[in-house]
Amino acid sequence: MTPPPPNSPPQSTAPTLTAQKILCGQKALVTGANSGIGRAVAVALGQAGADVIVNYVENPESANAVVDEIRQAGVNAAALKADVSCEQQVTTLFETAIQKMGTIDILINNAGLQRDAAFRNMTLAQWNTVLGVNLTGQFLCARAAVQEFLRRGVVPSVSCAAGKIICMSSVHQEIPWGGHANYATSKGGIKLLMESLAQEVASNRIRVNAIAPGAIRTPINTVAWQTKEAYDQLMTLVPYGRIGEPEDIARAAVWLASDYSDYVVGTTLFVDGGMTLYPGFATGG
Ligand code: BGC
Repeated sequence: MTPPPPNSPPQSTAPTLTAQKILCGQKALVTGANSGIGRAVAVALGQAGADVIVNYVENPESANAVVDEIRQAGVNAAALKADVSCEQQVTTLFETAIQKMGTIDILINNAGLQRDAAFRNMTLAQWNTVLGVNLTGQFLCARAAVQEFLRRGVVPSVSCAAGKIICMSSVHQEIPWGGHANYATSKGGIKLLMESLAQEVASNRIRVNAIAPGAIRTPINTVAWQTKEAYDQLMTLVPYGRIGEPEDIARAAVWLASDYSDYVVGTTLFVDGGMTLYPGFATGG
């Protein structure tokens, strides 16, 4: 993990649910799992007892390192390459994952990227890449997961639900973000994709929810936290006074994937240190 800036306050010391192995016997697929939030979620699911497919699109070495780390928890893990924006690759990803693991119980729809540009200069390629991976990718993977969940149904010894999908969204499903119109649009899209799907498949005992991270210390946003100036500026947007760590998101994902959240359906869980609380209004307005 990248070390925190010298001036940063203590990192999260919260306990984890993973010690209880609450996902024992479940099979999880995490997209974009070779770095950042996806990596932390994949490791935490493994530590909670799940077997994990680590999807990646480039940098196989880092995917293999995640697999090794997950296996240290005594569970099974494998890396599978696929670009989630490509229908054929997603089909193959799920076929191979199901061959290897027997089934899939948990999909973490995590793969995402940014291609930032001022709106007047944003190219169609920047727009399409972001919408393709962040939104179409979530559609394609969720569709494949739902097909498997419906085929298999509920296995009571494994989980009360026939399957769980967690869509990685962002505070920018709510907060407009100039200079990032493609990204904010993709996240706004995820909100209604998640809610519409959750509504449609809830009667099949499939639970679909989202996590909306705020500023998390990952490679996607190094400019926002790497220097003291940037970090201090970022903190004006975070009432809780520290940047999020990937493990903050991983803990939420383990809970949402487990039967401890069995009645949670179609919800977005904001894990953002209060970023969506309009911090500017703490003293103004
Ligand atoms: C973005 C980050 C950003 C954070 C808070 C995330 O969804 O990927 O780049 O720092 O939102 O603005």
